[in-house]
Order: sequence, then C-alpha cells, then structure tokens
Amino acid sequence: MALWGARFSNGPADAVFALSRSAHFDWRLAPYDIRSSLAHLSVLESSKLVAKDDAAAIRGALKELAVEVSKGSFLAQPGDEDVHSALERGLTAKLGAVGGALRAGRSRNDQVTTDLRLFAIDHMLEVASLVTALNTAILNKANEYVNDSAPGFTHIQHAQPVSFGHELAKHAHAFARDLDRINDWLKRTSVSSLGAGALAGSSLPLNPERTAKELGFDSSFANSIDAVSDRDYVAEALFICATIGLHLSRIGEEWTLWASTEFAWAKVADEYSTGSSIMPQKKNPDMAELARGKSGRLIGNLVSVMTMLKGLPFAYNRDLQEDKEPLFDSIDTLLLTLPAITGMVATTDFDRKKMALAAPTGFSLATEIADYLVRKNVPFATAHESAGKCVALCEKSSRQLHELSDDEFKTIHPSLDGGVRDVLNVAGALSSRTTAGGTAPALVAEQIKSALKENATQSKKIADKAKAFSEMMGS
Ligand code: ARG
Repeated sequence: MALWGARFSNGPADAVFALSRSAHFDWRLAPYDIRSSLAHLSVLESSKLVAKDDAAAIRGALKELAVEVSKGSFLAQPGDEDVHSALERGLTAKLGAVGGALRAGRSRNDQVTTDLRLFAIDHMLEVASLVTALNTAILNKANEYVNDSAPGFTHIQHAQPVSFGHELAKHAHAFARDLDRINDWLKRTSVSSLGAGALAGSSLPLNPERTAKELGFDSSFANSIDAVSDRDYVAEALFICATIGLHLSRIGEEWTLWASTEFAWAKVADEYSTGSSIMPQKKNPDMAELARGKSGRLIGNLVSVMTMLKGLPFAYNRDLQEDKEPLFDSIDTLLLTLPAITGMVATTDFDRKKMALAAPTGFSLATEIADYLVRKNVPFATAHESAGKCVALCEKSSRQLHELSDDEFKTIHPSLDGGVRDVLNVAGALSSRTTAGGTAPALVAEQIKSALKENATQSKKIADKAKAFSEMMGS
C-alpha cells in the first residue's frame, strides 16, 4: 500500500519501487511499529483527535495485527514499500478509512527511528545477556586452572610464566567492559523521537513525553530536527558489536593456536569441532575460526553506517534507510556466535601437564634473576644485563637457567649466590607476583571470585531491564 501519491500523475517506475522498497528487511520492525502506534493512538485519543469509538476499534485491530504478525499470518506483500505501509494496509483492510487516522501528527521519519531504537534496545539487551553467559563460562573455566602454570607470551614468545586461570580470566574483563558500554549506550538510546513529526514537531496537541513514558524510554527528544536525524545510537551499537566481535576474535585466535598439533594445549570437545570432507583424521576448531572471521563483517557494518552518516544533511534523507541492514546483521551475527563460543569455552579441556612443562622453557624465568639482584640493591639495568648473560651462557651450552653452577652465577655477578635457585622455579615465580591484578594463584582466585560476582550483578540488571521491556511490549 502506498502512503503517498496524490500529487503524482504516475506511480513510481518498477526500478524506482524496487530500489525504494525496504519491506523485505524492515519487516522485523513490525512489533515495535505496532507498539509505538498504540502509544501514539493513546495520545491522539486523549487529545480528542481520534474519537473514542474509533480509537477502540484501532486499538483492537492493532492488537489483532500484532498476533497475526507474530504468527506469520500477516506479512508484508510485494506491493508494500516498507513496514509502515504494510501495517497501514492491514489496518485499513480491517477498519476501512479509519485505519488511516493514526498518521495524524506522525511521519515515517519520527516513526522509523522510534521503532529502530526499540528494536536496538530489545536486541542489545539480548546480546548483553549472552555476553554475561559467556563470561560465566570463561570465569568458571578459569577457576579450574588457577593453580596450573603455563608460559605467558609477548610477541607469541615465552615471556613469563602465568597461572593459566589468570590467562583465561583476562577475556572476561574485556567482555565486562562491553557490558559497561551497553549500559552506557542504553542511557543515550533511551530517548523517544515520537512527536518530532517530519522534522518540525506538530501543530496538533501531542504529548511526546507521555508516548516516551509509555514506550519505556527515559525521556523524549529535545530538538525535533535532531530527533529525526540522529543515528548515533546505531553507530554506537555497531561499535559495541564490533568490539565484542574483536574480543571474540581474540579468543578464536587463541583457541585455534592452542588446539594446533604444535601446541596441543586445548582439547576442543567433539560437539564444538568439525571434520574434513577429504581428510578423515581432521578435527578442526571451526567455531574459533568463525569467531575470528565474523569480526570482519562486524567492523564492516560499523564502517558502512558511519560512512553513510558522514556529511549527511540534517532531518530525514533517504540515505538513512541504509541504517537497518548493518544493525540487523551485526546483532544476528552476535546472537549466533556468542552461544557457540560460550559452549566451546565451557567444554574445552586443557593439558595441564604439557602447559606446566612448557612454563619454565624459553628462559621465561630470566626476569626472576634480575628481580633477585634488584632485591640485593643491584640497579635494574645491571641486573637485566647479568640475567641476559645467564641466558646467553645457557643458550651456548644448551642448558636451562637452574642448571648453571654456583661458580658460573658468581662469575656473572657477585651477588648471584646459590639463593637464586629458589626463585628459578615456576611455583615460586607465580606466587611472588602479588601486585594487585597479578598472576599469584591466591590473587587470581580472588580476582575470579569478584569478577563472577560482578558478572552476576550485571546479569541480574540486564534481566530486569529485559523483563521491563517485554512487559512494555505486551501492554
Ligand atoms: N523506509 C524508510 C526508512 O527506513 C522509512 C522512512 C521514509 N521516510 C521518507 N520520508 N521517505 O528510512
């Protein structure tokens, strides 16, 4: 159904309609469009712009449509330009001309961005809840390995030994920042645009504050031109999705590496692995690779929307129709990826023995020698040089640091006495790293405990918000 046309002598050419049409993708805004129409209707009714009986009929028809939409028995047709036209067609089919009453004081310009805000809030809450589930899996897995040592890396070279629980738990801190970002984003997104009209507000006695409240928004727009132009909330949501994607890609890279034959640290569960069509022996960590790969499209969607917005004149321009598919795609991508990675993390086992054996190799305890000398008041630069000489000597004679003789240590630096051997072991090195946030297992256990607590608080907050949202949608 066309929402315009009287001033034209001809309808749009087929190619024009085909390019204009958004109903095939914006149809998923239908439940939000119906809900915001109900809010708009209440205001039209209280301002007596729609008679009581008509309002009751429209309300009933909208609620029927909501059920039909959710059952899939009412759908957009090829002749519908967008979700708004399709729903008005449905309303008029039920009510005749009265079905067109809702358009008073409202334009698709304020309507579409209100719908999209509602969609975004609803779905970002779902993403947030999946992120908390992933964090629970990461932290529980980390808890299993608090007392297991492994080499820690810089430049993918052995650097210093760490508690493997510490290594795993780090990911949860990255995702906790994403949850924080979502909470912060919600504050800015919770602003209703309804009542802004095409761009200038309305001459009709509307009540934007009231519609905002009914739809669960914190507030209503302050400037009607900004209200119909603003898509910051889309760009910001895409940035958050892209950042979650980056964090997932880093898990993906790690798991892929750790599951390799060369590392053989990670045993990915069969249910989270895939095989090869030609090589019968293969068991590939495809979920980890997909998590890594999907980050590309998440970043692409952000870039696509920011590029579309750059230099765009204010108020509505049709370019803005390009805001939806990237947002839908990023959200869909995360809704698919997060549960798969959560399952993969929860079911992966790590080879404790192999990691522990690798922990002291690659001279990863060299810093301990330098710190030992510093504790004996040797300036760090000198201590660093002496520890380096120990490594060079070991490399020449194919030995490990603890295999150097007392004489050799003494020759390198007079303060390097036999006591140095006490720090040349992984357990000692780990338990000595007691600065806040460090890798000492006792601290790591505390860090994980408090991260789990914070994650549970977040998860509850998100669930409460989601519950309030779904109550609003059902009211
Ligand atoms: N389908 C349009 C969109 O997604 C709805 C708004 C159309 N407004 C207009 N002035 N043509 O942006």
